[in-house]
Amino acid sequence: MILYELDDQAIAVVTIDHPEEPLNFLSFQAIRQLEEVLDHLAQLTEPRPVGVVFISGKPDNFIVGVDIKDFLGFRTVEDGAETSRTGQSVFGKIGQLPFPSVAAINGTCLGGGLELALNCTSRIITDHPKTALGLPEVKLGLLPGASGSQYLPRLVGVQKALDMMLTGKNIYPYPARKMGLADEIVSPGVLLEAAKAQVMRLAKGQHPTRPKRPSLVRLLDGPLKGLVFRGAKKQVLATTRGNYPAPLEIIRVVKQGLGRSLAGGLKLETQGFGRLTQTPEHKAMTHLFFAGRGSKTALQAQPRPLQQVGILGAGLMGSGIATVCLDKGLTVRHKDIDFKALGRARGSIQRYFDGRVKKRIVSRRDAGLTLTHYSPTTGYAGFQRSQIVIEAVFEDLSLKQELLADLEGAVSPETVIATNTSSLPINQIAQEARHPERIIGMHFFSPVEKMPLVEIITSRRTDEQTLATTVALGKRMGKTVIVVQDSPGFYVNRILTPYLNETFQLLEDGLPVDVLDGYARRMGFPVGPCTLTDEVGLDVAGKVAAVMAPFIGERLQMTGHNQRFTDDGRLGRKNGRGFYTYPKGKKGPVDATVYQLFDHPQRQTIPYEQVRERLLAALLNEAAFCLEEGLIDSPSVGDVGAIYGFGFPPFLGGPYWAMDQLGLPAFVEQLHRLAERHGSRFAPAPGLVKRAEAGERYYPGD
Ligand code: NAI
Repeated sequence: MILYELDDQAIAVVTIDHPEEPLNFLSFQAIRQLEEVLDHLAQLTEPRPVGVVFISGKPDNFIVGVDIKDFLGFRTVEDGAETSRTGQSVFGKIGQLPFPSVAAINGTCLGGGLELALNCTSRIITDHPKTALGLPEVKLGLLPGASGSQYLPRLVGVQKALDMMLTGKNIYPYPARKMGLADEIVSPGVLLEAAKAQVMRLAKGQHPTRPKRPSLVRLLDGPLKGLVFRGAKKQVLATTRGNYPAPLEIIRVVKQGLGRSLAGGLKLETQGFGRLTQTPEHKAMTHLFFAGRGSKTALQAQPRPLQQVGILGAGLMGSGIATVCLDKGLTVRHKDIDFKALGRARGSIQRYFDGRVKKRIVSRRDAGLTLTHYSPTTGYAGFQRSQIVIEAVFEDLSLKQELLADLEGAVSPETVIATNTSSLPINQIAQEARHPERIIGMHFFSPVEKMPLVEIITSRRTDEQTLATTVALGKRMGKTVIVVQDSPGFYVNRILTPYLNETFQLLEDGLPVDVLDGYARRMGFPVGPCTLTDEVGLDVAGKVAAVMAPFIGERLQMTGHNQRFTDDGRLGRKNGRGFYTYPKGKKGPVDATVYQLFDHPQRQTIPYEQVRERLLAALLNEAAFCLEEGLIDSPSVGDVGAIYGFGFPPFLGGPYWAMDQLGLPAFVEQLHRLAERHGSRFAPAPGLVKRAEAGERYYPGD
């Protein structure tokens, strides 16, 4: 996997190439191989290398990180610390070589990959669309443990380094060059040549000129860095509410590390990494990482190759779907009955690509080229060339059925027809279809450009190739895909509904709107339920709840309240009236008149712990129902769906993981207690009780 050769100029070229995977992961074994190669190179005398280039054997990735599977074996803080020490020491050998080293980076370079590169004398990157550099360890509840937390701030300054490590975000080529993370950008075809030229320059003592930081930045990275650390901590606490230990540990390790020698800093990094490997948050997030990759349904058919997508409806969702399809290289034929809607869609697509150009993620030329693949229309001409059509018109059963009949006449006999309904059963939409086997649900979340999940819903009659093709499109769009059985609300909205129902109950019990939203954020949700309902639209939420009411039965009691809101002309953000006021279109304070819509308008406080228990219990119990009804085929599908679909707190690992952590017998007991106090809506799911009695868990114990 790690090979090296010396060229005729005595430059060593170390190639990293995972033999079985399309992506280069660094396993423990690979790190040991790298160590052997480095030891060997260090001792070479005949000829003595002029320098070394590290390059990947893959067409579009350098190294995507350390193999996380290897982390699953950590049982103690010391296990994690030991691994960190090994990583630091092996990568450290690059810096100790008696000649310069250059990382030649084409494609993704993340985590351990970037840490390797940071130990090199210089980094040359390409302008390949997949070239991106980042330290995403925080997303697994960890810190960069193979020297990254110490090398990065020393190279790019405290501010930029903290920003990268606390968000885990990708840095694209031009910003990477500007911040000094990369020394040169070249095109992929000349990467090796450019890296070798850099080796030669370095060997002659010509050091790369790194961009000079503006004086304010120099101050903030230097004498005023205390301000940066204080600001970062404040921001972390405001966004994570103290639910995540890793970001605080990153700040601590960087801050204290910079006050010490490099060796002292590395020691702190090792200790911090070791400690974090034993936190429940890291375990939950690692579980999610594997659940996200493992939740792929075993497909029984080959997908049809995709070139063109037809989209029906150019509203909020249709525009978002079109944007993402175009971004991923697909041709889009977009139909609406309203010219203005098509104009707005074209505008929003243009704005999206302008933003990408501005951030230099794509060139203006490529963005312009992409837009030539978009064509709006008010007719069906051109739809027969689409391998898949996604319908995103109003949420109205008869309209969707009518359009389906039109579509079946307009597309080719193989075209898949996907409907982006948020709650209507696919079986009903496809009731009169001539080819129900080619009809499927594809439930996106808003905003489509940002939300990472798509739920794919098969009806009883959907065939395997339709499913395979739709899954392929979801993946091509860069989404995490979960396959769900046809049932009102599918999975994500289904578990969300009892949570929103409990929200109304808590408001009826007197809790103020803003306090409730604040509590939910403290629990780890990205937004509170009242804000969320305002965003989705109270009318939309009401419609979804009404579709689900007959299935959820007594667990859903507050549908009347939704009606009261719509009767009162309160639709949420879109008409500036909801739980909150929206002066000039921006979210303002709570609209206190909203309390008049409750049977008990007086407000009172309810302790956080009680609110947390009620909201979480309603949601988790519904998840238990979903699994026993066969809506999803495994707990990991449900955990991934909840987290990526509506932001269930990742540090809890998803509803099923969270129930396991509570202990199923304890959770059943909690539900009985809540049912006694608040009513039968908390009666535990029978399948949950059975599991608890049998001493089973959702996931095998570790
Ligand atoms: P929207 O109201 O923004 O857009 C609907 C578009 O459909 C309008 O531009 C309208 O002119 C067009 N349309 C209506 N009849 C048509 C016809 N006969 N032929 C072609 N176009 C027609 O609605 P939005 O929010 O984009 O929702 C679309 C669908 O997506 C609905 O089924 C909704 O339930 C679903 N959905 C919405 C989500 C959201 O957050 N808004 C999330 C997930 C799904």
